[in-house]
Amino acid sequence: FDPYCRLCPRLATFLDETKEKYPDYHCGPGEPFGDKECNLLIVGLAPGMHGANATGRPFTGDYAGVLLYQTLFDLGLSNQPEAVRRQDGLALRNCRLTNAVKCLPPQNKPVGAEINTCNQFLAREIEAMPSPTVVLALGVIAHNAVLKALGLKLSTAKFAHGAVHEIEANLTLVDTYHCSRYNTNTRRLTEEMFVEVVTRAKELAEA
Ligand code: URA
Repeated sequence: FDPYCRLCPRLATFLDETKEKYPDYHCGPGEPFGDKECNLLIVGLAPGMHGANATGRPFTGDYAGVLLYQTLFDLGLSNQPEAVRRQDGLALRNCRLTNAVKCLPPQNKPVGAEINTCNQFLAREIEAMPSPTVVLALGVIAHNAVLKALGLKLSTAKFAHGAVHEIEANLTLVDTYHCSRYNTNTRRLTEEMFVEVVTRAKELAEA
């Protein structure tokens, strides 16, 4: 992780512009958060403007974090059900959170080159995980970024909500639809659907 990374010109410029508009916001790469000695890595997409981009912690202050952090708490994976700011005392247990792209992208949409450039950081994060490792991908972009980080073709495993892919002897990839506001509002992803998949990932990580 490089807190000063400016490898993506479009994202670096956008962060500069955002910092001018919101001087109190973090407006830099978002560092992974959570337990380093764990077997479960949860991979999101990218920081949201007024959430992780503001607070500097994945999914913190983001609408998408409401269901995620509540679920982690309900499953005993954290000490608090909410995440609003960095110094809120929240600690994750037996799980770690990161994003496929560390910087805020315009319109919440990183382009392919940005996902690829940022992939080196995700690759090192996955490598640093204790074995066996369970990676829970939130959405298809995270799923594809994980495969790429592992040096695998996208055809190795096709994204599907609830799918469990045994990628390597000690690496399992679990997929869920992203817990975004759009997905939960449209009920493409219900709370029950999300809890079920996170529970499965947790069980696999503990097995
Ligand atoms: N906030 C994040 O940190 N990641 C996401 O994927 C969405 C919101």
